[in-house]
Amino acid sequence: MTATRTYGYTDTLDAEHYARALNADIRAGLTATPKSTAPTWFYDARGSDLFEEITQLPEYPLWRAELGLLQQHAGDIAARTGARSLVELGSGASTKTKLIIEALGPTGLRYVPVDVSADALHQASAQLVTDYPGISLHALRADFTAPLVLPELPDSGSRLLAFLGSTLGNFRRSTRGPFLRGLRDIMRPEDFLLIGADLVKDEGEMVTAYDDAQGVTAAFNKNLLHVLNHELDADFDPDSFDHVAVWNADESHIEMRLRSRAEQRVKVRGLGLSVPFEDGEEWITERSAKFTVDGLRAEMADAGLRTDRLWADQEAGFTLILATAG
Ligand code: SAH
Ligand code: AVI
Repeated sequence: MTATRTYGYTDTLDAEHYARALNADIRAGLTATPKSTAPTWFYDARGSDLFEEITQLPEYPLWRAELGLLQQHAGDIAARTGARSLVELGSGASTKTKLIIEALGPTGLRYVPVDVSADALHQASAQLVTDYPGISLHALRADFTAPLVLPELPDSGSRLLAFLGSTLGNFRRSTRGPFLRGLRDIMRPEDFLLIGADLVKDEGEMVTAYDDAQGVTAAFNKNLLHVLNHELDADFDPDSFDHVAVWNADESHIEMRLRSRAEQRVKVRGLGLSVPFEDGEEWITERSAKFTVDGLRAEMADAGLRTDRLWADQEAGFTLILATAG
């Protein structure tokens, strides 16, 4: 008989906190012009599963590009940081993180995955403590756009903060600076931050990555409507919206949008709102910034983060930046 491995779990997004944040963002977003909401709400259990499907799509090469860079350089990352604690923001299934965990040495390593998705955290944590019996794992369900209150980390040894998958790109330009500064402020001189970011490339390739032939990304986008129907007692008909992906060159980001197929009114009973949509009106549901290496380094430098080492896959257009709170 094998013993059940355990891990710590802290939920800072209990029903009340989650509802408060969701209500505020959706009310503001659906009464704004243009309508625009945070990508945080895609990730219920189904949304997390759909994202995992996206990572396997031929049209979405950025996930594999980052995997390839980590396969090549996790050893170097471990050698440079010598980290004994690893905190990962937006950890999801923690699949690529295993490469870092193995390079750092799982036994005695403190790993803190941070995510809004309880399902993703539990699935990943249960698997990791089975695969690495010596790991010290404490999952944190939290919104990383709010100040982070981390579970206890060992005082000794450096800490590595990881933010992979180009999830930094889901922040708007104006909020990336304060977010990076916030991370810098919780880092000690011996700590490191590892950021994975997708780079600007051919427009067609960038758009196709968000509009795949099988419609998985469309289902991911429309999952927001299912979440709002469930969480806010809304009556969105997913068939009355189309999935749209466009490149916004001025902002250097892909916008995922939901386009109303008709003039309609949608009741969001949980907010006491009746939301009008014009025929063809587009609601921005996600922004995914695409970076240049120099631009990202400069943004990080502005936030007080000094590049220690940078790896780039120029062909796939993806970069990993390891920085200190310089
Ligand atoms: N890093 C993983 C997963 C990326 S998907 C990878 O590269 O494969 C983005 C992840 O961030 C999801 O697991 C989602 O649940 C989480 N997420 C999105 N918004 C969040 C927020 N505001 N706070 C915490 N986690 C968030
Ligand atoms: C998690 N995040 C970085 C993904 C992205 O590319 O913006 C989410 C995603 N949206 C559509 N496809 C994937």
